[in-house]
Amino acid sequence: MNAISILQRNFGKNLEAFEIVFEHSKMVATKAVTIARSLSDPTINIDFVEEAALLHDIGIAQIYAPRISCRGAAPYICHGILGRQILETEGLTPHALVCERHIGVGIGIKDIVQQQLPLPRRDMVPVTVEEKIICYADLFFSKKPGRLHAEKSIEEIKKSLQKHGDHKVVIFENWVKEFSP
Ligand SMILES: [Fe+2]
Repeated sequence: MNAISILQRNFGKNLEAFEIVFEHSKMVATKAVTIARSLSDPTINIDFVEEAALLHDIGIAQIYAPRISCRGAAPYICHGILGRQILETEGLTPHALVCERHIGVGIGIKDIVQQQLPLPRRDMVPVTVEEKIICYADLFFSKKPGRLHAEKSIEEIKKSLQKHGDHKVVIFENWVKEFSP
């Protein structure tokens, strides 16, 4: 499977958005693969980590976010479920689940109900170690043009997660312990 050509095909003529998402996804993939290797766990599928990290934001192709040249119809928060749909159509179910489960530290059914998010009512939190590593690596990078290559500090990430509740910070802190060298 060729993750880059799947990504490229889904962005179609929107080269500007493709470049942003591709650049961001390469940063995430590099960090995720580095973490996955550092764990020296033979059960972790490193090729999958790389492929799924490159594809995790494919749903961005269908959302409305003019700052990153996207003029689709869906709100930003839907890029996870849209990515899942796209990759399920490609026959890539495990990769599809990474898309759905990578936003923030994951979105629980409680968050969806309490905040009335425009999402189906199910838990969208990373379950496998590969899903957790990609979700964790993604938190270090933004898609802001001009900031694509800047890695955020752990303190910066905690500060932005804090806005969504202490429980989000706790999940992140546990990942720091699990995944930091
Ligand atoms: Fe991302």
